[in-house]
Amino acid sequence: MDTITPAHLNPGWSPASWRDCPIRQVPSYPNADRLAAMEARIARFPPLVFAGEARRLKAQLALAASGHAFVLQGGDCAESFGDFTANVIRDTFRVLLQMAVVLTFGGAMPVVKLGRMAGQFAKPRSSDTETIGGVTLPSYRGDIINGPDFSEAARIPDPTRMEFGYFQSAGTLNLLRAFASGGYADLHEVHRWNLEFVERSPLVERYRDLATRIDETLSFMGACGLTSISAPQIRETDFYTSHESLLLPYEQALTRVDSTSGDHYACSAHFLWIGDRTRQLDGAHVEFMRGIKNPIGMKVGPSMQEDDLLRLIERLDPHNEPGRLTLIARMGADKVAEKLPPLLRAVGRAGRTPVWLCDPMHGNTIATAQKIKTRRFEAIVAELHGFFEICGAEQTIPSGAHVEMTGQDVTECVGGARGLAESDLGARYETSCDPRLNAEQSLELAFLIAEALKARRARRTTP
Ligand code: PEP
Ligand code: CO
Repeated sequence: MDTITPAHLNPGWSPASWRDCPIRQVPSYPNADRLAAMEARIARFPPLVFAGEARRLKAQLALAASGHAFVLQGGDCAESFGDFTANVIRDTFRVLLQMAVVLTFGGAMPVVKLGRMAGQFAKPRSSDTETIGGVTLPSYRGDIINGPDFSEAARIPDPTRMEFGYFQSAGTLNLLRAFASGGYADLHEVHRWNLEFVERSPLVERYRDLATRIDETLSFMGACGLTSISAPQIRETDFYTSHESLLLPYEQALTRVDSTSGDHYACSAHFLWIGDRTRQLDGAHVEFMRGIKNPIGMKVGPSMQEDDLLRLIERLDPHNEPGRLTLIARMGADKVAEKLPPLLRAVGRAGRTPVWLCDPMHGNTIATAQKIKTRRFEAIVAELHGFFEICGAEQTIPSGAHVEMTGQDVTECVGGARGLAESDLGARYETSCDPRLNAEQSLELAFLIAEALKARRARRTTP
């Protein structure tokens, strides 16, 4: 396969050009030859996604940028090799479907479903090392790099993990594709998506009520001749995958030239994003991302300055291509009102039209007195509300939400309808990285966002 891009399209760029740039968050693999051998091996594997799918997602994101669709991006902070089961994949998928249905109703517009799934393995860390009881070891960087156990053997970066990551991504994606198009996502099944433990939740009535309204609508549409057979949108859904583009040797190995356009696409997922810690203008991660043609994202944290943001946009999306760039604001509930408005204004003044999403998780991580990492549901909601309000005031379209969640009944974030307390966190705290919303909290959040979308719609239609 050809790996040379016409120079006029991307001057100086190649899938390997990131190697000449300063890089952060790199694992130190002890054996460079073994790493290179694994990269060569993965470079021969089939791509996990196709360019045409990435282009289709880009078109849907363009609709979101112009206010005609809403993006729901969600999944684990870090997928883990130990949690590679059909039930875990199915449960996350069905909560995302439930959330999407709630949002479709509230927003009266299509929801673009983007899982942090099938490849979300590599994690940036605030420190290269971790010390416990006087012992210092390399930090855990995600299952595709090293193991979470606090032992020297587990923490040594191991390139063979990339191969397992590839196959876990392929297996996950295979199941997601089957669920999305094989009948599981049929809107007639909307009652069955409810998870058993949500059945006991204060939210269940609201969800049942919505599901009943969907049933009635489908019966009416069926009577008019619109059935799952005549309208496949009822029977199947589009579901896309995404992850942080952190482990560049892996991403490069899965970058391929699309035979129809001659362009390079990262084929490890439909959508990749740059994390808040690796978004340096001249850094390796920005360099790699500028040349791939997928729709891409960038986290925008509270330290982002207006002129840096504009320079990054220019580098990543020089032609202001619809759907190309998604900016994922993650300021924190206490900072969003101060930090976000000048950025929205600067981007608007520059005539740029990226997709703006709110990640209300990463700016709201706190530690309890027992040093357990958690997030308060109220802070998550407050940041989302702040985001919607600020976008309204700054004539910017709030195009979606990015959340860390799971379909499991975990106890990692406090608050929500059931009032999870800090003392409950020990019960089922299972994340291998950041605290996630459980299924019930995720659904509750979807209802709250749906209300905000409904209110926005009402304001727009009121003369
Ligand atoms: C993440 O999304 O898990 C993450 C590390 O986010 P950020 O780059 O915004 O800190
Ligand atoms: Co995270």
